[in-house]
This record gives sequence, structure tokens and C-alpha cells, in this order.
Amino acid sequence: MGEGLVGVAFDVNRVRAGYPALADGYAYLDGAAGTQLPAAVIQAIGDAYLAGLGNAGGAFPASQRADAITSACRAAVADLTGGQAAGVILGPNMTTLTYRLAGALADTWRPGDEVVVSRLDHDANVRPWVQAAARRGVVVRWAEVDPGTGELPHAQYASLLSDRTRLVAVTAASNVIGTRPDVPAITAMAHAAGALCYVDGVHATAHGPVDVHALGADFYATSAYKWAGPHVGAVVADPVLLESLRPDKLASSPGSVPERFELGTPAFADLAGVTAAVDHLAGLDAAAGAGATRRDRVLASMATAERHEQVLFATLLDGLDGMAHVTTYGKAARRTATAYFTVAGQTPRQVAEHLAVRKINVWNGHNYAWELTGALGIRDAGSAVRAGLVHYNDESEVERLIEAVADLG
Ligand SMILES: Cc1ncc(COP(=O)(O)O)c(C=O)c1O
Repeated sequence: MGEGLVGVAFDVNRVRAGYPALADGYAYLDGAAGTQLPAAVIQAIGDAYLAGLGNAGGAFPASQRADAITSACRAAVADLTGGQAAGVILGPNMTTLTYRLAGALADTWRPGDEVVVSRLDHDANVRPWVQAAARRGVVVRWAEVDPGTGELPHAQYASLLSDRTRLVAVTAASNVIGTRPDVPAITAMAHAAGALCYVDGVHATAHGPVDVHALGADFYATSAYKWAGPHVGAVVADPVLLESLRPDKLASSPGSVPERFELGTPAFADLAGVTAAVDHLAGLDAAAGAGATRRDRVLASMATAERHEQVLFATLLDGLDGMAHVTTYGKAARRTATAYFTVAGQTPRQVAEHLAVRKINVWNGHNYAWELTGALGIRDAGSAVRAGLVHYNDESEVERLIEAVADLG
């Protein structure tokens, strides 16, 4: 685990000092629903407007600044994920982009084709595929979660895949129980069957290094607001693959890749914020090599941040699992620092309200993990409470949460 290394390379106080919102006395354990923004990101967004900002494609400098912001943003997302800038599609959020990609991919499906979705996934990587499949007469197959462990066993894909499988949609990490399925194993099986893989990286990206090639993701979806950026979504794909797809678009809008997947005018200033967020992540580990590329610094910093989160998470789980009145969900071998739990005699909402009074932000409910909370049998009772850790959380916040939950016993 390299706990000692964390102390050397990762200074959580230094990191926290960069986030103005963290000074308000609240423990922000709601990062899985959206992180706070560092001052550098807020500044980058403001600077874009302060400099004068035009629409794209014009002959004058304010427009050229918008074009430069967009290009820089694609390059930053590519550095974060290991993809190619020319294959980075930008949009308002992951859900919108996934519906868009589902529409474009479904145009290539024929009746009797098959798609595979999973019950581990956030609904944004389920419903767009299920609905597109229904429209095209395509069969939907479901990968199941082991409710006892929260694992998504990859071996089941052998029986879910066939030569009719066109797409496998799977998450790189559950947004409630943190399970990190063996995505490389799943995508290798899917590719052997001739299917494409759409990997939901919205939760995973915040919690460790990402390499879309190692994952085997033909499409990798992420959302900057989960990793210190503004509300912008991105899908990373091979531009050659994108060239083969023809999404609906305006006659007058660009036909090039990746632009033809992007609808209307983007939030340019926010795209500048996304680039600043990637730069911020790259600097989380102050020891991550001056002179190294941004990609290398991102990989090193996210590995360090992951170790930091996992050390805190072990304390959090120890605390929660040690209380007789608390039930925790999920114990996958590989998971993000995301706890999901219920408290005897309390609804999840009541627990969240009890914590809010104590200045601790957590989420209650299904958090759009619709199928999973159904499979766990907790959805109808309000699901559970989610306390998620990100790089800026510290030990004192974890201790405050444990004490406050203990008070409910
Ligand atoms: C795992 C996961 N996938 C998808 C989404 C949807 O992302 P967006 O809000 O960008 O549409 C979320 C948001 O919470 C998520 O956690």
C-alpha cells in the first residue's frame, strides 16, 4: 500500500488549501456526486471570459481563443485517459453523450443483434442501450452482480456473448459500492466475439490512473465534474472508429471527427476549466517529476491519490463495519474509496440529515445505480447512504463521519 510513500509524496493539506470551498467547515464526502473546484480551475474559467471569448471558427482573436480552448481541452482529456485528442468528443455530460453514441451505434445494428449491459452500472450506461436496442429489435443480455460481494464476475460474459453481440456496456467502477470489475478481461472476451465496448469511466476516473488502451475501451466516457472540473462530459474513442459512425447532425455543422458528434455551441469557458482540472490532477503529487510529460505526471499523481484514498477508506470501512447498527454493501477485491451503508432504524435520508446537521455531506438514495440497488433489494426502502472519498478528503473527516454514525447506535 505504500502508506509511508503517501506521507512523502502526497500532502493533503497542500491539496486542500487549493480548494476554496473546503474552508467552510463541511466534510465534503459527496465527491462521488461531484467534487469541489480548485481555485486554479475557477480562475481558468474566469480568465476565459475576462480575455474576451467568441464563438468557434471566426477570423478574430476572441474566436481563435475559443478554438484554442477546445483543442487544449481535447489534449488534456487525452492526457488524462491515455486516448487521442482527435478522438475526444466533448459535451454537457456523460448521459447526453451516451444517448448520442447509442443512437449512432444503434443505426449500425440489425434485428436479432445483441447488446450486453450490467446491473453494476449507473443507469446512464444501461438505459440508453436498452432503449436503443428496443427500437432496433436488438436483444439485451444482462451481466449480474453477486449481491454478497458486489463483484461483477467476468466469467459470466462467456455465456452472454455470441457472434451477434454488437456492444458490451460496462462500468470501470460502481458509483455506489465502488466495485472495479475486471474490465480488461471483459473487453478481451467482447472483442474476441466481435463486439465493441463502451466503458463508463465517470466514477473510476477520479480514483486512479486511467489507460483506455489497457482497459480495452472502444469508448471511454467520463465527466469532469467528478474530478475537480466543471460540468463537462467527454467520450474518448479511436478517431478511426468515430469515422465509421454517422450521428444525426445539422446540415451546416462540421462533418469532421470528433466535431460531428458535438451538438451546438459548447461551454467554452468550462472547457478551459477542464484543462485546468487535468493540470491540477497532474500536480497532486508534488514529487511527480518536473520535466515529465503531463500524461506521466497524471499517472503518477493519480496513483498517489489512489493510495491516499485507500488508506482513508480502510479506516472508514473498519469504523463502519465495527458498528452493529450499520450494514455496509459491497466488498469487492478491487474498489474505489466509496462506502455504501444503511443504519438500523433510520432511513438513508434521516442518516444524511443527521450528518448534514454535523456538517458532513453524504448522499442518500440509489444515486442512479438503479439496477444494482434493485438487485441488492434496498431500492424500495430508500437504498442507502453513500460516503465517497476523493483526493482532498482527510483523516479528520473520516473520523467525524465514524463518530457521527456511531451516535446513531
Ligand atoms: C458511474 C456514473 N456514470 C454515469 C454518470 C452520469 O454522468 P453525468 O452526470 O455526466 O451524465 C454518473 C453520475 O453520477 C456516474 O457516477
